[in-house]
Amino acid sequence: MTKPSLFDLRGKLAVVTGGSTGIGRGIAEGLAEAGCNLVICSRNLESCKRACEEIAGLGVQTLPLRCDVSKNDDVENLLRETTRRMGRIDILVNNAGTEGREISFWELSEDDWDQVLNTNLKGAFLCSRAVVREMIERGGGKIINVASIASFIGFQNVAAYCASKGGLMQLTRAMALDLARYNIQVNAVCPGFISTPMSQRLYDETTWEKIAKRHVPMGRRGRPEELKGAAIYLASSASDFMTGSCIVVDGGQHVW
Ligand code: NAI
Repeated sequence: MTKPSLFDLRGKLAVVTGGSTGIGRGIAEGLAEAGCNLVICSRNLESCKRACEEIAGLGVQTLPLRCDVSKNDDVENLLRETTRRMGRIDILVNNAGTEGREISFWELSEDDWDQVLNTNLKGAFLCSRAVVREMIERGGGKIINVASIASFIGFQNVAAYCASKGGLMQLTRAMALDLARYNIQVNAVCPGFISTPMSQRLYDETTWEKIAKRHVPMGRRGRPEELKGAAIYLASSASDFMTGSCIVVDGGQHVW
């Protein structure tokens, strides 16, 4: 009999927030390639449906759901519908995020601030809070927060974003401590510059090329699929003794 692979996710169920595009989509595909069934949610049900149809081609079960992660009623509904239609949640990927407006912090309105913090930080709290009770009852689970190198490094003109991602890394550590005795591991992936709809909204391709050559030792931006390996590791039993920690995927940017 062959030993099951450390990275085997067959029979598991993951919820990926904001999983229809960009990094979330890359992570969702990676988990599906490892055999994981998926719930993909965002505020746009149509784009979740399209992503689910494409990913189902990998031979896993998928369910698209609409959810605004900053609204607790939506999050409770996400949990209810997921457990009713797909069964237990083994893995939660808190990926949904927004960059906010690129301006000096003193020009941010209260609404600008709230929108970024409510999505990137409160959203991860609400989703994690919703899933952990059931994970505790079942004896374990995995939570993966998509933080950023902006969790460690300051970037100009995106103060709310940096604050939200710094907070998300601290939330990762604090949740990991609360959940350590319940066999629930909480970790983060911290991407550097990745080519996604979010980064395209900030600069055009030529500007990104210049930025990457100047700031990234590997001289380029990453691709969403380059987050797959870290996500599979953190979702699988390969990472069972790792919690409160992070994997940086940034072409060497944070050490330069
Ligand atoms: P993206 O814009 O392609 O994806 C963000 C996803 O989150 C979208 O599907 C969007 O619909 C969803 N979303 C936004 N607000 C939501 C809400 N309130 N409720 C539910 N879903 C919501 O952008 P990208 O780049 O793929 O971002 C994914 C995550 O990766 C974000 O948390 C972002 O901060 C993080 N990240 C991105 C980096 C990059 O260079 N692209 C670098 C480091 C971190």
